[in-house]
Amino acid sequence: MNILVTGGAGYIGSHTVLELVERGHRVVVLDNLSKGHRAAVGGIEFVHGDTGDARLLSETFKKYNIEAVVHFAASSLVGESVQQPAAYYQNNVVKGLALLDAMVSSRVLKLVFSSTAAVYGEPIEVPIMEDHPTLPTNPYGATKLAFEAAMLWYSGAYGLRYASLRYFNAAGADLAGKIGEDHHPETHLIPLVLKAAMGSVASLAIFGTDYPTPDGTCVRDYIHVSDLAVAHALALDALSAGRDRAVYNLGNGNGYSVLEVIRTAEEVIGKPINVKYGPRRPGDPAVLVAGSGRIKKELGWRPRFADLKSIIETAWLWHSSHPAGFEK
Ligand code: UFG
Repeated sequence: MNILVTGGAGYIGSHTVLELVERGHRVVVLDNLSKGHRAAVGGIEFVHGDTGDARLLSETFKKYNIEAVVHFAASSLVGESVQQPAAYYQNNVVKGLALLDAMVSSRVLKLVFSSTAAVYGEPIEVPIMEDHPTLPTNPYGATKLAFEAAMLWYSGAYGLRYASLRYFNAAGADLAGKIGEDHHPETHLIPLVLKAAMGSVASLAIFGTDYPTPDGTCVRDYIHVSDLAVAHALALDALSAGRDRAVYNLGNGNGYSVLEVIRTAEEVIGKPINVKYGPRRPGDPAVLVAGSGRIKKELGWRPRFADLKSIIETAWLWHSSHPAGFEK
């Protein structure tokens, strides 16, 4: 299939591009490189531009005979979204709608969307299933949910077929060690733990030790980025086979606390990590764990990296061999 991947030069996007190419698809990446890295998709057909650019989209669909889109391009930092909701609505909703409209005009009607556990907000029940109430507590989650709603209505009216993948905490790196996580600034726990181990950040702050969890720190469900990538490929296959709409959670179904992540990283690296105990980060729910039974049952998805240690090992492989990320 000829597939356009928006935001394909980003962390999860580039791993998905790799998976799609390995499966024999022809992939074209559209990325404005505001966050992504050209080096993450070396050798892949690349269009430098924006999902808000209707003319560029229709030209790209035509030029490459695009049959499906995987849409990652978005702003994705929870804290930043609270400070700058306008930017999040612009990037994630307004530009997202431009993409949907261009797809409908060009009759490109298969879409896999990069969504998030942030659509649920503070969980009422754990593990979180797809029918859990969606009450986002920040603009990031709200804008992803708004796009999901648009896909639903476009599907009824214009024949769009879509799968929305709600990821929990993406982590790790491709086993070949050539691509990995490289955010500026980095805000995510596992890369920061590994950077603290390498001395490229002085210490790691643990955000809150008074949560109602076994050790007082937040519990998250970490899922390997390559397992996420496979899920996108399976979702595309399902759309090609006639599936019209689907929403899937993606996690391992195991919760690990911040302290467990640090301990496991120390085990992988073989040395202690310098930590500081700090206050809670506003907006962090105590526990987020996915129920991923639906995608397992319907698409046969199975995570290859089901335990935290194997996920951190692949992240360490990338960070220790690329201390400056894609810069070197
Ligand atoms: N944490 C620390 N110290 C740090 C960074 C993080 O203690 O320096 C803690 C956080 O408080 C949280 C856990 O580590 O408890 C994981 O934090 P991340 O920032 O790595 O990930 P989040 O759980 O905040 O975010 C993830 C995705 C978001 C998504 C969100 C859903 O990255 O895209 O889950 O709530 F929106």
